Amino acid sequence: MKGIILAGGKGTRLYPLTKAVSKQLMPIFDKPMVYYPLATLIEAGIREILIITTPEDMHLFQNLLGDGSRIGCSFSYVEQAEPNGLAQAFILGEDFIQNDPVALILGDNLFYGTHFIEQLKKHASYDGGMIFASKVSDPHRYGIVQFDANRKAIDIEEKPTHPKSSYAVPGIYFYDNTVVEKAKQLKPSSRGELEITDLNRLYMDEKRLHVEVLDPGTAWLDTGTIESLMEASQFVQVIQSRQGILIGAIEAAAYQSGAIDKQQLSLLADELEKTVYGTYLKSLISE
Ligand code: G1P
Repeated sequence: MKGIILAGGKGTRLYPLTKAVSKQLMPIFDKPMVYYPLATLIEAGIREILIITTPEDMHLFQNLLGDGSRIGCSFSYVEQAEPNGLAQAFILGEDFIQNDPVALILGDNLFYGTHFIEQLKKHASYDGGMIFASKVSDPHRYGIVQFDANRKAIDIEEKPTHPKSSYAVPGIYFYDNTVVEKAKQLKPSSRGELEITDLNRLYMDEKRLHVEVLDPGTAWLDTGTIESLMEASQFVQVIQSRQGILIGAIEAAAYQSGAIDKQQLSLLADELEKTVYGTYLKSLISE
């Protein structure tokens, strides 16, 4: 399976912070935001990853992440010139996807939970589409899924004014290869975007959309507003200092999922030796 990180958009809700620098490069405590979704894909065993950015920001992502070979992965890059919607990722990524299934993760979504990666691996190979649902207190901000009495998903709506449930769809999606053709069928919504919710509806119409309720022990944070950005930093700091781990460390994710060996991790740790980050990577080697 291939992976796409969508890190486009103008980040206007975070202005002036994001006026000159991409939102997905803002710090979440001790790492750039994009590290967190990237680590999630790597932990799920995905190695070939396409990063979609604005034309202005692409070189910054390339400086930060390179071609991925240092962590046993392959990263490529494509521009999204205008923020025309999440589903456009599959049209922009057509050459990259080729004949494979693909996962999309939003560059501003952060997931953390011991069972989350197991849940991902277990369901990622579903034939059709696979998305998650998670209870939220502000459902009008998200794609919302409605379930019937048997917990079967029966409807999905984008940012409804009168939400029929409080189950939001987090920004991680798994699709079979028909996703490219489906994305091409979509028409822009009233906000002028190719909506991921409309794409999910196409799978739902075919009765091939699997909606899995997120394990209650999994934290899902999005970082679209200045308050949520701050909360995500605080969350990462508290968990890291309490549990003595690093969340979103891409080198650790690569090592733990078998993409690199001890020797490669050791070289990466040496480069970061002046930081807690480097010390943590070193500690993994001696474990
Ligand atoms: C997007 C999707 C929405 C999803 C959300 C998750 O919203 O359109 O369905 O629930 O991401 O973060 P947006 O980023 O446009 O607010």
